[in-house]
Amino acid sequence: MKILIIGGGGREHAVAKALVKNVAVEKIWVAPGNGGTAAFCENVDIAATDLQGILAFCLEHHPDFVVVTPDDPLALGMVDLLEENDIACFGPTRAAARLEWSKGYAKEFMQKYNIPTAQCHLCEDARAAKAYVKKCPIPIVLKADGLAQGKGVVVAQTREEAVAAQAQLSYGKPDQAMLFEEMLTGPEVSVLCFTDGKTIIPMPAAQDHKRAYDGDKGPNTGGMGAYSPVSAYTPALAERCMEEIFLPTIRGMEAEGTPFKGILYFSLMLTADGPKVIEYNARFGDPETQVVLPLLSSDLLNIMIAIRAGKLDRAKVKFQDCYSACVVMSSGGYPSAYEKGKPITGLEEAARFGTVYHAGTKRLPDGSFVTSGGRVLCVSSTGRSLRQALRNCYRGVDTIKFEGAFYRKDIGSKDAALVKED
Ligand code: AMP
Ligand code: GLY
Repeated sequence: MKILIIGGGGREHAVAKALVKNVAVEKIWVAPGNGGTAAFCENVDIAATDLQGILAFCLEHHPDFVVVTPDDPLALGMVDLLEENDIACFGPTRAAARLEWSKGYAKEFMQKYNIPTAQCHLCEDARAAKAYVKKCPIPIVLKADGLAQGKGVVVAQTREEAVAAQAQLSYGKPDQAMLFEEMLTGPEVSVLCFTDGKTIIPMPAAQDHKRAYDGDKGPNTGGMGAYSPVSAYTPALAERCMEEIFLPTIRGMEAEGTPFKGILYFSLMLTADGPKVIEYNARFGDPETQVVLPLLSSDLLNIMIAIRAGKLDRAKVKFQDCYSACVVMSSGGYPSAYEKGKPITGLEEAARFGTVYHAGTKRLPDGSFVTSGGRVLCVSSTGRSLRQALRNCYRGVDTIKFEGAFYRKDIGSKDAALVKED
């Protein structure tokens, strides 16, 4: 079987590593891929958003299965386009992925189907938002509608911050819709689920660390590390989420005529009032995937094929009963400007302590690696306890060097401190 994976981050490296375990897989292309995927797949120099380029590649090379992971090709309708051309594809249609690409739609959907989420007020354009921000309750959360890769949200504690955020988030676009949301508090968890539109199977809950620096300080990033499972997400809460959130969501999507097939990722806040949805993502999370897939003991390709066929209820989906963590190493300056092309050493030694998933790396013809992005790589490890998993990650991180490298030293530490063992 020949597979094409769309994307080029750590998440895609983790998906490729999981898929290659299936003995039926003879070849994996990754478009555009990264240094890590170059080592065992064939990278294809086509951007993940280049729908026509990907279609042309598929018509020429005939992959048996295409896995679309990033948000923007899903929002552009890559799955629809490829399936219309009889190319088997994993991922939601553009209409189903709307749960992620329109926050306004997601809110209306949750209200219609009684799915718990923050109270909100939608302003259709910048003028309405500018008027509303002067009288809205404070604190308030402002969200620009549309894909913003984490940059479209501001949690404003004061009126001044809210006014500034409104101006910033709708800057230059009079028609920019804006959501104003009640601020929720509580632990945040990411629950990634397999779903074929009828059956939904959650993966172990993960927690991301979005801020750049220790103690949740500094600017928001794509994610600096994660761990799984999360102690705050108890079996009782998991059951409640299934009844109040997960099942109503897939049933609602089916009722709307846009059944969701793929990975549905629930970003949840575990408030004193019960679990509430912060947002939906229509895809694997990054770096959550790099901690959750190592726990999957069943075959990922078989699960994906079952999902596309609408037969997830017949697939084997089992996870190991242990802990998993990952620590992201970034380029100095990230998430602002950073330099590229720094040689990376210590990768082989790090592999003794876990798996190194590449994100912003490039493989040179001599087989060595240099940096080529903000989030460069992550070290992901498992262990019998969270502490052990974290210790392995940091041992791996300690062996890897590149100029300007930085990482958070407190990934999972709050949860690890709660557990009394070793
Ligand atoms: P989002 O892009 O919607 O995931 O939002 C980014 C981050 O903003 C989330 O991970 C939360 O930490 C925070 N956030 C979003 N919505 C809310 C809310 N209603 N209350 C508190 N924090 C929020
Ligand atoms: N880890 C956050 C995301 O993938 O959106």
